[in-house]
Parts: sequence; structure tokens; C-alpha cells
Amino acid sequence: MSTSNITNIPSTQNCYIDGKEIKYTEGQTILEAASQADIYIPHLCYNKKFKPHGSCRVCIVNINGHSSCACTTPVTPNAKIESDTVELNHDRRVLVQMLFTEGNHFCPSCEKSGDCLLQTTAYELGMVSPHFSPNFPIREVDASHVDMLIDHNRCIFCSLCVRASREIDCKNIFGLAQRGAKTTLSVNSPSGRLGDTDFSSSDYAANICPVGAILHKGTGFKNPIGQRSSDITPLKTHSTSGEDA
Ligand code: FES
Repeated sequence: MSTSNITNIPSTQNCYIDGKEIKYTEGQTILEAASQADIYIPHLCYNKKFKPHGSCRVCIVNINGHSSCACTTPVTPNAKIESDTVELNHDRRVLVQMLFTEGNHFCPSCEKSGDCLLQTTAYELGMVSPHFSPNFPIREVDASHVDMLIDHNRCIFCSLCVRASREIDCKNIFGLAQRGAKTTLSVNSPSGRLGDTDFSSSDYAANICPVGAILHKGTGFKNPIGQRSSDITPLKTHSTSGEDA
């Protein structure tokens, strides 16, 4: 092995998450290092297949006394990271409660119930009510596609479908339009309807939505209670992997 090959090997360092010493590889983010050490940090918009987006902020941690998103912040040697604290979990819970009240999320009637990252994260954070007054925004359901539908009421704007369609499917079907409370998931077709695109149910973007916003038609409630992903795998186990929801 040449000298240059040796120097290119990323070095391993130590850091501390909630007082536990763990090893990480130079260049890893806090969320990656935590996942590798089987430490659960709540998150919604992170998926290890994509460059972190840093939009949901549910992965907020304290690093050396400053708050930061675990999915976008690289670990530094001997960093002291706090994640599972009363204050941080309170802040995360407020963020999740705001997501519930900004959209229209009615879990008992949602076919993604039991397979929804927003719902299971809310349970994990001890959310027992939305707390805030619901906005009840008027949002559409786009059922124009033969196999798929978009229920805009449930979109949390994690942009995973946007990134998947652009980076893996090479179709660029989705985008996020407008800002703040007016943000919407847009469809890149002249009509703005999904049925007027070449979107396919086998696209990566068709199978990555962590909530019940992009759904396959004709498959609703196919997993009975007791056999849904959150019935089978605890969120903490499932979610440290950063895999698709
Ligand atoms: Fe880090 Fe969303 S901001 S997972």
C-alpha cells in the first residue's frame, strides 16, 4: 500500500453523546455517528441515501453548549453532545406538535397509521395532544395519477420525494414551492397534476414518503393492526438506521 493510500484512510476519533463515549470516523455527522453507535436521535427529514437537508430540526442537539442539527453538523474530536435531555425533547415535541397543527393529520383515519414516521416520532417524544390550535389549512388531494395519489394535507415538506426523484429517479417530478406556512409540494407538469408526469409507482420517490402524503392506490390498510412497522419494530431500532420509512 502506498503512503498516499494510508493518509487517505479517514481517522477514527472519540466523542461523547449523553456522556457515552463513542467512536466516529472523521467527516461523519453527529447523526451518522449516533446511528453507528445505535444511539437514537429523533429525526424526520434525514435519510442516509441523501445529502442532509436540515429542514425539520427535530434532530436538534447541543454540541459543546451550542444547539445544532445533528444531521448536518460534523462531529469534532472529543465533542460533548447532549441529545436525550428534558429540554431538547421538549423542543422536539413542540416542533412535532407544530407539524401536526400546520397540516391536517388525522391518524385514526390515515392509511399510513402505524407506518408513519411523524406519528411514531410523536409517540416517542411523549406527545399526547397537538397542544396548538389547528390551522385546518385547505389542501388538495391529487388523485390524477392512475397508480398513486398525493394527499397534500399530510405533507411535512421533508423533501425526501424531491431529492429521490431528482437524484435517484432522474425525473425531477417534485419541488417545494413558496415559503413558510405557504410552502407546498409542487409537481413539475404543465397542469401541476401528478397524472400529467411520467411518475411511476416503482420510482424511488414513490416509496420514500415517511408520512401518508404520497400513497399507492389500492393498497390502503393492507397491514392490519399488529403487523404495521411500528407494531413490529420499535422506532428507536428502526430509526437509528436512517433507512427509508
Ligand atoms: Fe436533521 Fe431534519 S433537520 S433530520
